[in-house]
Amino acid sequence: MNNHTKIFELLSNKIIEKGKITFKEFMQTALYQPESGYYTGRNIDIGKTGDFYTSSNVHPVFGWCIAQQIYDMWETMGNPSDFIILELGAGTGMLAKDILSYLKKNFQGCFEHITYQILEVSSTLMEKQQVTLNDFQEKLQWGTPQEPIIGVIFSNEFFDALPVHRVKKIGGEIKELYIVLKDGKFSELYDDLSEKEEIMDYLETSGVKLKEGQQIEVCLEAKRWVDKIAAFLKKGFHLAIDYGYLASELDWPHRFDGTLMCYKNHKAVTNPYMDLGEQDITAHVNFSALQSFGEKAGLVNTGFTNQMKFLVNLGIFEKMQIQSSGFSQGNEKKNLALKRLIMPEGMGETFKVLIQHKRLKNFSLKSLKNFG
Ligand SMILES: C[S@@+](CC[C@H](N)C(=O)[O-])C[C@H]1O[C@@H](n2cnc3c(N)ncnc32)[C@H](O)[C@@H]1O
Repeated sequence: MNNHTKIFELLSNKIIEKGKITFKEFMQTALYQPESGYYTGRNIDIGKTGDFYTSSNVHPVFGWCIAQQIYDMWETMGNPSDFIILELGAGTGMLAKDILSYLKKNFQGCFEHITYQILEVSSTLMEKQQVTLNDFQEKLQWGTPQEPIIGVIFSNEFFDALPVHRVKKIGGEIKELYIVLKDGKFSELYDDLSEKEEIMDYLETSGVKLKEGQQIEVCLEAKRWVDKIAAFLKKGFHLAIDYGYLASELDWPHRFDGTLMCYKNHKAVTNPYMDLGEQDITAHVNFSALQSFGEKAGLVNTGFTNQMKFLVNLGIFEKMQIQSSGFSQGNEKKNLALKRLIMPEGMGETFKVLIQHKRLKNFSLKSLKNFG
């Protein structure tokens, strides 16, 4: 039985049992059902041979810049001797490898004091990470921190992979999208909110005001993760990189129906109900929610910027040995990588960077400097 059939049967049985399921339950199962979910199945891959690229697949310079950021944070914190880098959702481990390689080569003093810990839900990806990171075994750990850490918790494209509720304003009321069975097929239906208090609190805390007919994803899992991150951190930083928006940008016309998207073989697909377990399902991250829930949980907002400014401030041109004026003639590979990572038509503006901190005072990070 293939993944699609397994997941379809499982979800159909749940719907028969309960009458309807939330989109969040559907997405959670399609992505993370043990053995057959998209991320937890045997076929998951990221990059050229997978369904989508992340920045770490574009060029190792992305990881080198993050390594620079981590080093700056370590220095800002007074060079602690036990410094944990906790990566959430490390994919194939490529980014971790680029970060560790750069720290080892350029910042030996910092490298000696770090432990690199990975929190990963997929055992298939964990196996890939172990192979990719074979050279750094003595630096690595997997799993949840056993006690609050001093260091940095970071992620790239983690929050966009968390399951979401989908809600819409209909007749002046906020309703939720459910999935039911109709003639043996999935069908959509709007009804009262499943987790009313939490969903309404999410909308209010993140400053979302829906217009009539407008739909949005509500990621209660993101709030739960922010709470966990604040609890994991004794002292240090949280750094989240992802595609997303602030609540103030929500009424942009192309976002009126929400931001849910699926990816298969490097193509964007709008139907989440096909190829179950075989296509990625994702939603843009509401960074206003991460900021507001972070503040409630004890994280201070250090700054918010886009990937282009972040990488330029961290020296992407110098690290690629390209003149800071821009693109270099005769080096098409580097130019293409730069274009993808920092130009607005690539990942430069859609991708955002949020930094939060805990128990730190009187510092500034050059990555957040404003320019232009
Ligand atoms: C879109 S991929 C990004 C991978 C990687 N960070 C990169 O940049 O290539 C999302 C990652 O988050 C992991 N993930 C999703 N939900 C998770 C959870 N609840 N706990 C730990 N890892 C999770 C996935 O298995 C996957 O490794």
